Amino acid sequence: MNNDILEIMLSEEELNKRIKEIAEQIDNDFRDKDFAVITILKGSYIFSADLVRNLKSAPELDFMTASSYVGTNSTGIIKIIHDIRIDIKDKNVIIVEDIVDTGRTLALIKEEFLKRGAADVKICTLLNKPQARVVPVDIDYEGFEIENKFVVGFGLDCDEKYRNLPYVGVLKPEVYGG
Ligand code: IMP
Repeated sequence: MNNDILEIMLSEEELNKRIKEIAEQIDNDFRDKDFAVITILKGSYIFSADLVRNLKSAPELDFMTASSYVGTNSTGIIKIIHDIRIDIKDKNVIIVEDIVDTGRTLALIKEEFLKRGAADVKICTLLNKPQARVVPVDIDYEGFEIENKFVVGFGLDCDEKYRNLPYVGVLKPEVYGG
């Protein structure tokens, strides 16, 4: 285990098993339908890579960078830094997110996609922290509900570090000055 990690919250095995189950759910719901999977970078890239490789269906894939999260505090100001290239008008869209915390990011992205004319927008998140919610968000596919703790690994970072850890872990408070 990495020295900066206090405890492993979700192991590689637990994550892999759950991701396969979510892929199955999506395959069941979207059988015979065209759809696009839009991954919110950077945090979701590892989850999304595993998720889409477990799908039997063949969605269009694209990526968006929309973030304002700095260190361990959300500033609450969200910017679209890198936009998708595909046209989502009249399409079914699944947004893939790493974690829903306050809900601000996803509420804004979903609203934006509906404005662009998407037929339907579903939300798929690996982690959900319901206790941190400020803006309500309907989650359609969820990996794990977790406590309101700052976690890293499996794509999630603290100042761009720890994304490569193969598990989700809780950082030692002294590492981020908590
Ligand atoms: P929200 O808009 O507050 O829901 O925040 C969403 C974004 O904040 C996520 O996509 C993450 O990038 C980041 N974030 C929220 N909680 C954590 C955490 O515990 N660890 C790392 N990043 C987090």
